Amino acid sequence: MSADEYILDSPVVREFVAGVRATIAASASPAEACDAIRPRFAELLADADWLPARYQEGDPDSGMGGGIGQWLLFRAGDRSLALFALVVPSGSQTPIHDHLAWGLVGLYRGTQDEEIYARDERGTLARVEARALAPGDFYALLPPRDDIHRVRTTSPETSVSLHLLTNDTGCVWRHAFDERTGEETPFRSGYVNVACEE
Ligand SMILES: [Fe+2]
Repeated sequence: MSADEYILDSPVVREFVAGVRATIAASASPAEACDAIRPRFAELLADADWLPARYQEGDPDSGMGGGIGQWLLFRAGDRSLALFALVVPSGSQTPIHDHLAWGLVGLYRGTQDEEIYARDERGTLARVEARALAPGDFYALLPPRDDIHRVRTTSPETSVSLHLLTNDTGCVWRHAFDERTGEETPFRSGYVNVACEE
C-alpha cells in the first residue's frame, strides 16, 4: 500500500482528514458518516484562508474540458479517501458525470448551478433536479441514487468547490453521459497536479 499523500500539507488539512477518518470509523453507514462530517466540512468551506491561490486556478489542458482544474489536496494511501478542489471558470460546465463513491461536495467560491440526473425504470437518463449553489452550500453524494450530475459556474468569477469523496476520484475510471442519448462513455478526469498510475 502506498503512503498517504498530503499534497497540501497544512495543519488545517491534517486536522480535517484526521477528524473525517475518525468520524467514518465511528459511523454505521455512508449516510450517517456524511451527516456527522457536515459541521467539519462547513467549517472548511467557511475558512477563507487555508486554500492557496494556485489551487483556485483553472487548467487550460483540462481532462474535463472547459479549462476546469481538478486539484488534489489529499489522498489516502489505500485510495479510500480524497480531498480535491474543482475549479470551474465562469460559463464553463463539466460533462454529466458520476463519481462511483459517496462523499460531500460544497461550494467555496463563486456560484454554480447543479443539475442532477438519474435513470428512470426504462433506463432513460433524465434530469431530476436542479439547484443553485452559493458559497457555503453543500450536498452529499450517495451512490447509486445520488451520483450523476453536471455543474456549471454562474458567477462572473471562477467557482471553486471542495470534494471529499471515498475513492481516488480523479484517477478512477468512471462515466460521462450524453445528455441526449443517455449513452455512457468511460471517463477519467485526472488531476492537474498529480499523475494517475496506469
Ligand atoms: Fe461531480
